[in-house]
Amino acid sequence: MKSVQAPQPLIVLKEINKSFKQGKQESHVLKGLDLTINEGDFVMIMGKSGSGKTTLMNIIGFLDRISTGTYLFRGEDVSLLNENQKSEYRNAFFGFVFQQFFLIDSLNVQQNVELPMVYKGMNNSKEKKEKAQHFLDLVGIGDKLKMKTSELSGGQQQRVAIARALINDPLLIMADEPTGALDSETGKTIMETLKKLNQEGKTIVMVTHDEDMTAYATRVIRMKDGAFEEEVTTV
Ligand SMILES: Nc1ncnc2c1ncn2[C@@H]1O[C@H](COP(=O)(O)OP(=O)(O)OP(=O)(O)O)[C@@H](O)[C@H]1O
Ligand SMILES: [Mg+2]
Repeated sequence: MKSVQAPQPLIVLKEINKSFKQGKQESHVLKGLDLTINEGDFVMIMGKSGSGKTTLMNIIGFLDRISTGTYLFRGEDVSLLNENQKSEYRNAFFGFVFQQFFLIDSLNVQQNVELPMVYKGMNNSKEKKEKAQHFLDLVGIGDKLKMKTSELSGGQQQRVAIARALINDPLLIMADEPTGALDSETGKTIMETLKKLNQEGKTIVMVTHDEDMTAYATRVIRMKDGAFEEEVTTV
């Protein structure tokens, strides 16, 4: 008889610490964090500048390593994965919206959005273009396909970054201040889009300074000096 297993948490961080060495100086940036993220969570991370939010996001997204502690991703110990495996997992499971957009200026909007599909080895141009168009429509810039990203406003660039993050249908959307560069109306559209994706089952981890954004989350975690201060669960 098959036993019914409880769903495995997507992410489990246990007692993680992160320090950066600069010459002889060492700064202890994340201090003994415990965090479990389940599928379907919309986690919002808040805290002052320098409190360690981006550092935590980088660790969750396999872009940086922990100094001590344990990180389990879908039950797998991340410290046992090699760089190739980490890149594969990153491309398969994560969609990133960075604080800086990290768009490639020499590519147009469509090409930027198609990049994660290219990394995945997709070579059907028509399918790639249709998907790019779909996600650019979703974020409201479907008419900008052939524009250079350097010719777009900050808010439009952020929307290209969001379309790029969504294109591979990631399990997890990691968004570091996705609305920071947007006017409040566009910011609201983006948040409504993220909320809809969350309701459809996507897990979202988002960093923000904006208290108004907390209404969209199911969990709000506040950080101070590299530690969690408190957590509020709203759903
Ligand atoms: N690569 C690095 N090398 C050394 N120190 C670093 C590095 N990355 C981050 N830090 C330090 O870690 C601390 C936390 O930085 P982090 O970028 O995580 O803050 P943050 O909460 O995202 O801030 P902000 O709201 O301004 O984006 C800062 O003091 C920063 O100087
Ligand atoms: Mg940051």
